[in-house]
Amino acid sequence: MLSGKTVLLGITGGIAAYKICELVRMYKRANANVQIVCTPNALNFVTKLTLQNLSKNDVAVEEFDIKKYNPEHISFADKADIMVIAPATANTISKLANGICDNLLTSIACAFTKPVIIAPAMNCNMWNNPIIQENLQKLHYTILEPETGFLACGYTGKGRLCSIDKIFDKTVELINYKPLNGKKIVITSGGTIEEIDPVRYISNYSSGKMGLALADTAKSFGAEVVLITTKDVTRNYKVVKVKSALDMQKAVEEEFDNADCVIMAAAVADYRAKNIVKQKMKKTSDDEITLELVKNPDILKEISNKKTHQIIVGFCAESENLLENAKTKIVDKGCDYLIANDISRKDIGFSSDYNEVTILNKNGEVKKLERASKMTISKQILEEIYG
Ligand code: C5P
Repeated sequence: MLSGKTVLLGITGGIAAYKICELVRMYKRANANVQIVCTPNALNFVTKLTLQNLSKNDVAVEEFDIKKYNPEHISFADKADIMVIAPATANTISKLANGICDNLLTSIACAFTKPVIIAPAMNCNMWNNPIIQENLQKLHYTILEPETGFLACGYTGKGRLCSIDKIFDKTVELINYKPLNGKKIVITSGGTIEEIDPVRYISNYSSGKMGLALADTAKSFGAEVVLITTKDVTRNYKVVKVKSALDMQKAVEEEFDNADCVIMAAAVADYRAKNIVKQKMKKTSDDEITLELVKNPDILKEISNKKTHQIIVGFCAESENLLENAKTKIVDKGCDYLIANDISRKDIGFSSDYNEVTILNKNGEVKKLERASKMTISKQILEEIYG
């Protein structure tokens, strides 16, 4: 079931760590390569020797091993197909939610762009602590909630590690979930940069996070991904760095013919400077100067007009009358789907890791997605298109 796959298994320091030995056996029986990474505290509950024997691999713990020349957190993250953190303690959950990388396990998780499963286990009062719940909310991982029952600490409540079978089944399900196998998905992201002179430009606040989350999700769903972005991104799929709307148009056109789906998540500037001044513009004695702008091509509209088999998806950012404006826009642009964002809200959208969007399709159907991480929203968008 897991032949040819690498499971990166993170074990943290909770008593439930002893149960993970059996999970390692299950992965091995399913022919997975199992790479175990423990937090130093995990080794108080289970020995390195046991885990090494069961996994038939070295067990990694320390971040800075002078014998190794490869940065391990990156090479482990690159090699694995999935990361499973079980048990996940309140401590590690909180570190992950806040980007703290103070050991090998948390550093790997921070660099990991493929699916992550976490199986929390802790005392019921810790589980019910609102801070822990808030931190869990921040994670865009698949969370296998603890079960209710008698806990090792003597309490009865919610906090017991979910069954090992459940963790195993979820691992198999996520590793083999490739609904976009054989599809080429082109995604644009980031705000375009429209030069005025060698030191000045017009741009916008787009962080590129939504497009990047879509690209990562499409990749984990098995697609061939091309990300055309104005941001610096390194990934294990094709990334084309562009600057202006005209660059982006050219890059999209180059990828268009054999694409199955194009998702325009980029915030493309509507106008650019009519003339890019070759030398830095000098301050003059005038109190006012005029910058002449010309319209950029509407890439979304243009590709919607010339599409043959492609599914075309646009985004629209509105600060008022979201639904009415989006309904008009999907007709005007001629795209198959339009994902509408309310940019007047500070808790979602630009720069945030969260979003709340409404999906419109060309048949006039409307579906609202609840506020969630951009990774979760990406899954829902791709499932809506290809579901
Ligand atoms: O027209 P508006 O900017 O609201 O439309 C947003 C959608 O159109 C986004 O999908 C964006 O990527 C795309 N767009 C484009 N070319 C432009 C402006 C926006 O493709 N010049």
